[in-house]
Amino acid sequence: FLFYQGQLFKQPVLIAKTGIGKVMAAALCQKIIDQYSPRLVIFSGVAGGLDPRLAIGDIVLGAKTIQHDLDTTEFGHLRGTVPGTDYRFLTGDPSLLKIAQSTPATNFKIHQGTILTGDQFMTKKKLQANSYLIEDLDGMAIEMEGASIALVCELNHIPHLIVRVISDKADEKATTDFEQFLPMAVSHLSHVIKHLLENLPKP
Ligand code: ADE
Repeated sequence: FLFYQGQLFKQPVLIAKTGIGKVMAAALCQKIIDQYSPRLVIFSGVAGGLDPRLAIGDIVLGAKTIQHDLDTTEFGHLRGTVPGTDYRFLTGDPSLLKIAQSTPATNFKIHQGTILTGDQFMTKKKLQANSYLIEDLDGMAIEMEGASIALVCELNHIPHLIVRVISDKADEKATTDFEQFLPMAVSHLSHVIKHLLENLPKP
């Protein structure tokens, strides 16, 4: 893991890239918390849009996140429950949500909703075979790290916010859209992150 430490928009920050999937994200997040004791964690990246109202380039803020592939339903637990705990839906920090939502944006929209996390890249075939993603879990967007960051932050009592930009619609075009729209998606994301850092409350 490579860490960049410094000032960004007048805030002291530590920036790191997690790599892909729940384990990579969780491992890095815990390491940062142990070594640097951050006062909050902002995680950003791309996601597939599930809600038809989303356009590629829109932002989704994680009001809630859940591990959609954590499945001990055979034991009578609701899908996404971390067995042996009460953790299921994890909530993004309300004040961070509010600041991010207030980002002035003209060419894209900022939504709040449930972000689903699992170790699979979702396409149309998989979505159709897993109707619970939308019907039971009410997923607005789907990605591969958010809820694992949220759980690590929760376990360490650190506020967090997951900020995702829609790079594809988790459909038959998902893999090509993902590549094509990445530069545009990243510019929208950096706009929101800048606004967040410029408007964080004083510690
Ligand atoms: N990240 C971006 N698009 C995704 C998709 N369709 N499924 C999972 N993670 C994603």
